[in-house]
Amino acid sequence: MEDLTYTSESQRQYDYMAQMKQWVSKQSEKMGRPLTCHITTFGCQMNAKDSEKLLGILQQMGYVETEEETADFVLFNTCTVRENANLKVYGHLGHLKKIKQKNPHMLIGLCGCMMQEDLVVQKIKESYKFVDIIFGTHNIFKLAELMKNRVDSNGMIVDIWKDTDQIVEDLPSERKFSFKCGVNIMYGCNNFCSYCIVPYVRGRERSRNPEDIINEIKALVADGVVEVMLLGQNVNSYGKTLEEPITFAQLLQRIEKIEGLERIRFMTPHPKDLSDELIDVLAASQKICNHVHLPVQSGSTEILKKMNRRYTKEQYLDLVERIRAKVPEVSFTTDIIVGFPGETEEDFLETMDVVKKVNYDSCYTFIYSKRTGTPAAVMPDEVPEEVIKDRFNRLLQVVGEASKKNVDRYVGRTMNVLVEMVNDHDENLVTGRLTNNVLVHFPGCREMIGKIVPVVLKEAKGFYYLGELAE
Ligand code: SAH
Ligand code: SF4
Ligand code: F3S
Repeated sequence: MEDLTYTSESQRQYDYMAQMKQWVSKQSEKMGRPLTCHITTFGCQMNAKDSEKLLGILQQMGYVETEEETADFVLFNTCTVRENANLKVYGHLGHLKKIKQKNPHMLIGLCGCMMQEDLVVQKIKESYKFVDIIFGTHNIFKLAELMKNRVDSNGMIVDIWKDTDQIVEDLPSERKFSFKCGVNIMYGCNNFCSYCIVPYVRGRERSRNPEDIINEIKALVADGVVEVMLLGQNVNSYGKTLEEPITFAQLLQRIEKIEGLERIRFMTPHPKDLSDELIDVLAASQKICNHVHLPVQSGSTEILKKMNRRYTKEQYLDLVERIRAKVPEVSFTTDIIVGFPGETEEDFLETMDVVKKVNYDSCYTFIYSKRTGTPAAVMPDEVPEEVIKDRFNRLLQVVGEASKKNVDRYVGRTMNVLVEMVNDHDENLVTGRLTNNVLVHFPGCREMIGKIVPVVLKEAKGFYYLGELAE
């Protein structure tokens, strides 16, 4: 790992961006057109946010973004949380190989969580020699430097860091939406849930300084953002390791005061660390959205123990009750894993029981995927595939019925909607979100995008509403 200070590092990177800009401009002169870039993002909101930063750097170098995977520079920001996320990347790479054969000048980069795995990088070095640069999750800020190294040499450039304690601030970033934006409040994870690879590929927990976060949000608001999503693998442990410790609840209170900011979301709070202080802040807040994504993973205390989640079924249900008592209209969503090693029918029924008791607005359901190197990968009593499939289908049914019933509950009410876009299927409609994150479609026009407007919810359609602008 290199020893660098924050400010000098971002300065170094701006120098590389400037050098690359000259290269890009020479190339486009030769080709008689601008150079294009494309980033394909796999995985979670952390990766989506990283891709915005990477795109910011590429635009600074003079690249123009395109939707096509045939661009002059194609970057895959990869995910490895489950096996199929991993397989998808190899699928796309096979496709890129053919494109590059026709366009030899094309540059291809790979980054993100998958690249933090030694075996993956080894495989790419051996079998995907057409890849130009590989880097990981800890050094995305070096993109310009790595590209410069690549155009100055002839071989594949590989730069993976095992971990880092650095946070490089003040680099460019490009926003996907003008009115909402993800904001990292911390990086990494220290929880080591036994099934999960994230702590291995994202490194140890590090919190950003509250001032850096506040300043970033103020600048975003000045630039038209009304909603922020605070991002971290376990936002409840935000601030614990800072020189001047601060809690997540205190950070939220400071963010609440930012004038012009309308909505605050956050992801993900770990149930084991959700404090009463935070519940009080949620209850008192005018800006924090009425939505808590509270991953349960399993309803069985036995399985939760094997998962190293550090709460019991009863503690989880009690937490839900305590939040509901103070924030009566809160919507809950969750993540559930089916088929963790050793999961019995009784364990699974406990999960079904939690789903019924909590009444989630929606659940993200996953089939357990074995990740090499995690403790669960060597646990006995793997659940047979057909048993998992059967449980998964039964769970989907219960989850679907519950969310339909829950979404229905606001029909007839007038609620505030943040308009996000013109409807994909009907240009006379716009699509926006309620504070509880549910989508609403209603007659409107492009000029409404980014505004919060009152909408009468006329009809519930399972996962979304049809509405009408309130008088
Ligand atoms: N930090 C977040 C989750 C990040 S990963 C949290 O703790 O809630 C997103 C989700 O992927 C997890 O909540 C989990 O449900 C799922 N997941 C993680 N590892 C998995 C695995 N090996 N198999 C199946 N699902 C997994
Ligand atoms: Fe993975 Fe657990 Fe960390 Fe979430 S809290 S990222 S599930 S180890
Ligand atoms: Fe995937 Fe990495 Fe997110 S493994 S889920 S992209 S932190």
